[in-house]
Amino acid sequence: MNTSHQKNGMKNSIALTAPGFIKRKRNHQKISMVTCYDAAFAKIITRTDIDCVLVGDSCAMVMYGEKTTIPATMNMMREHTKAVRKGLANKFLIADMPFLSFRKGIPDAVEAAGELMQAGADAVKIEGITGHEETLAHLVHSGIPVMGHLGLTPQFYHSLGGYKIQGREKQAAQDLKAQALLLQELGCFSLVLKCIPEYLGGEITRSLVIPTIGIGAGREVDGQVLVLHDLLGLSDTKTSFARQYISGADLVANALNSYCKDISEGFFPSENEVFSI
Ligand code: KIV
Repeated sequence: MNTSHQKNGMKNSIALTAPGFIKRKRNHQKISMVTCYDAAFAKIITRTDIDCVLVGDSCAMVMYGEKTTIPATMNMMREHTKAVRKGLANKFLIADMPFLSFRKGIPDAVEAAGELMQAGADAVKIEGITGHEETLAHLVHSGIPVMGHLGLTPQFYHSLGGYKIQGREKQAAQDLKAQALLLQELGCFSLVLKCIPEYLGGEITRSLVIPTIGIGAGREVDGQVLVLHDLLGLSDTKTSFARQYISGADLVANALNSYCKDISEGFFPSENEVFSI
């Protein structure tokens, strides 16, 4: 049978669902996730085997040049989620709840998560948990699949004192393990672990039924996520855990220089690129 996905070059024709994440872990199948912020890249991702896509609040940094994710707004996240959904066909799409949108009480959190779901997300991602357990449970009981996020939580940039590896001290590691179990109990279908020691990523992963998706969390997690522009070499910054698969910025700059050269030497447009009468 030749499905439309196979025609597009996709091997994995069965779309992931929130309960499907847990099944994947049970079957020892790794999960691949990447961020995306626009329809053009979403169309390309649709042609690949990537399992799921995150409209991360890293959008504020990648798309808008901000220094942290804190300036990400609901408007920004809603519009980028809509754009990605348009290009993404039926891949599982998660949208980040931006800074404080989850922390103003249950009605506001439901409203914000609802907006992202109505923009086309299949789930939302929330950073941290302490003090907001009831809100998370309420979202889950309202039919909103929630992905947790522990370790380096960039929305806590100021209280963490910058971007630092988390869970290095014994107490901090124990707290992270307890929070991971709590997120599972509250109904999260999966959990992002960012920038923690490899052994801790492994211990948390083995303690949970829900899958962990790591970014700088080592090899013993159930899946990996990277920022799209980092893996394509389109970012200015380079981090040790983010493998760069192509030098995208150089490829784009070379293409633009070829275009410039063709214009100045009179090779663009050619006779095939003009209209006749
Ligand atoms: O905002 C983001 O891109 C993220 C991922 C890197 C996990 O939270």
